[in-house]
Amino acid sequence: MSLLSTRINLDAISHNVHKLKELVGPDVRLMCVVKADAYGHGVEKVAPVMLKAGADVLGCATVDEAVALRSMGIDAPLVAWMWEPEQDLSDALSSNIVIGVPSLQHAQVLVDIEVPVKVAIKVETGMHRNGVDRAQWAEVFALLNDAPHIEVTGLMSHLACADEPDNPHTDVQAEEFRAAIAQAREAGLECPINHLANSPATLTRPDLHFDQVRVGLACYGLEPVAGLDHELQPAMTWAANIINVKPIKKGESSCYGLTWTAPADGYLAVLPVGYADGLPRSIQGSLQVTIGGKSYPHVGRVSMDQIVIDLGDNPFGVRADDEAIIFGEGGHSATELADAAGTINYEIICRPTGRTKRIYEGGIDL
Ligand SMILES: Cc1ncc(COP(=O)(O)O)c(C=O)c1O
Repeated sequence: MSLLSTRINLDAISHNVHKLKELVGPDVRLMCVVKADAYGHGVEKVAPVMLKAGADVLGCATVDEAVALRSMGIDAPLVAWMWEPEQDLSDALSSNIVIGVPSLQHAQVLVDIEVPVKVAIKVETGMHRNGVDRAQWAEVFALLNDAPHIEVTGLMSHLACADEPDNPHTDVQAEEFRAAIAQAREAGLECPINHLANSPATLTRPDLHFDQVRVGLACYGLEPVAGLDHELQPAMTWAANIINVKPIKKGESSCYGLTWTAPADGYLAVLPVGYADGLPRSIQGSLQVTIGGKSYPHVGRVSMDQIVIDLGDNPFGVRADDEAIIFGEGGHSATELADAAGTINYEIICRPTGRTKRIYEGGIDL
């Protein structure tokens, strides 16, 4: 038994990846993004499920994440787009990983190393975070085209506002991306695999799928755009077992700073989760947990290891050992919690850490 756990439903991930593959069709390659330990779902278990369900490629942020996937026995195509120019790339170079090139300096490093490598050139199209600026496109394209040991698989770029479907900036970026592809081809690069779309663009902008899409959040069953429903199944549930139920009297206050005072005689449930486990202290006032299908408010400060839940007069007889759902199946969704807490569902699913144990469900036919 675990006091605090994330239950990861591998069948939900399989379902979502199948759906996404169906949505993009046979001519577009589906990259499932598994950075940050598969958005907190555990990449070692999740990656094989995604590949079996139709992922053509896996995407990592850091090259170290991609190298780790190889050491887990994953032999599928991998792309990784974050590395520092001074980094030792030998493991990545011997692991057949497509490496993202976000600057002239990065390009020069790969040219100088003289080891065969496949790259995706990450071009700046309007997010202004990490990509080759337009002023240096020509130089980078020529440099990589002239290096016989470098194979440019194509261009990639990232959208800043795809989660706001009406935002015209997405079209501005798409135009810029098309211009970059045209310029790269004029420079002699074939660029067979170009990719721009993240989850929101994959779901809402089929015209921006290009040759490959890079989907993260939707694989884990969450909608990146409020109000849409693509019949995805959320894969993660964060649950805590109640460690104590105790009475509190009207006028007594609870937890650090005594910021909450009982309005009437009642009961508190103590949950073994705190900010050391990834529950933000700032969530005070926003969190409702679900116990036996009923929703109860968290009250008082979040401590390092504990929070308390106001059971009122405990009409349903909640007891120690009962399970409280922080988010997920049987409780409020990660999106509802994110909305209440003023953040995004991406952050919520990456939160559980510390003493949280992962428990996997489904995926038994693997
Ligand atoms: C470069 C890049 N591509 C794709 C993704 C996947 O985004 P999403 O989770 O919205 O699908 C990310 C994640 O932020 C990313 O950084």
